[in-house]
Amino acid sequence: MEIVTKSAKTTFEIGEKIGSSVASILASSGALVFGLTGELGSGKTTFTQGIAKGLGIKSVVQSPTFIIVRHYPIHKLNFSSFYHIDLYRLSDKGQEYDDLGLTEIFSNPQNFVVIEWFDKIDSYKNYLKGLIDFQVINDNQRKITFNGLHKFTWEELLRNTSPGGPASGGDSWEVTNGK
Ligand SMILES: Nc1ncnc2c1ncn2[C@@H]1O[C@H](COP(=O)(O)OP(=O)(O)OP(=O)(O)O)[C@@H](O)[C@H]1O
Ligand SMILES: [Mg+2]
Repeated sequence: MEIVTKSAKTTFEIGEKIGSSVASILASSGALVFGLTGELGSGKTTFTQGIAKGLGIKSVVQSPTFIIVRHYPIHKLNFSSFYHIDLYRLSDKGQEYDDLGLTEIFSNPQNFVVIEWFDKIDSYKNYLKGLIDFQVINDNQRKITFNGLHKFTWEELLRNTSPGGPASGGDSWEVTNGK
């Protein structure tokens, strides 16, 4: 599924929609792990901040530029922890990620994990439940491509938000591929 957003606010709102509905739909073995890819400034953190709001996290989720792993306790059905991980500072083929405890984080079904720059740890891709890619179209537009879950499931996560625009308020956005 692809969505083109025309403002940061809309990217945030799509994240928020997913954050608010994800716990009720997905039962998983191991953690629910979403990998985010896309160039600098493509919207990964904006989207993750929306997810955090949708999960009911009150404190601002800053981009963990220096702190690679941020943990937030949550109370959402099967989930008790939200992890926001940003691997930008890891060297491409570095070994440092062995020290981050990722295997343990990825193995706990009570964890919901969103990882910016997931492409730096391709060796962990078997843990992925979803892969979301962000592309810059121009100053205000981003193309967001959702992969790795059955298409119906992504649509379920965004239900109540009709293709072509949100039900009310906010800027319009459009699904450019699929329904
Ligand atoms: N449609 C849009 N969706 C998301 N962000 C947008 C959009 N249009 C403009 N922006 C701007 O693009 C920037 C996105 O920054 P953000 O930190 O979310 O990107 P990022 O992918 O996390 O970058 P980095 O790789 O540096 O972590 C923000 O300044 C935001 O205001
Ligand atoms: Mg970021």
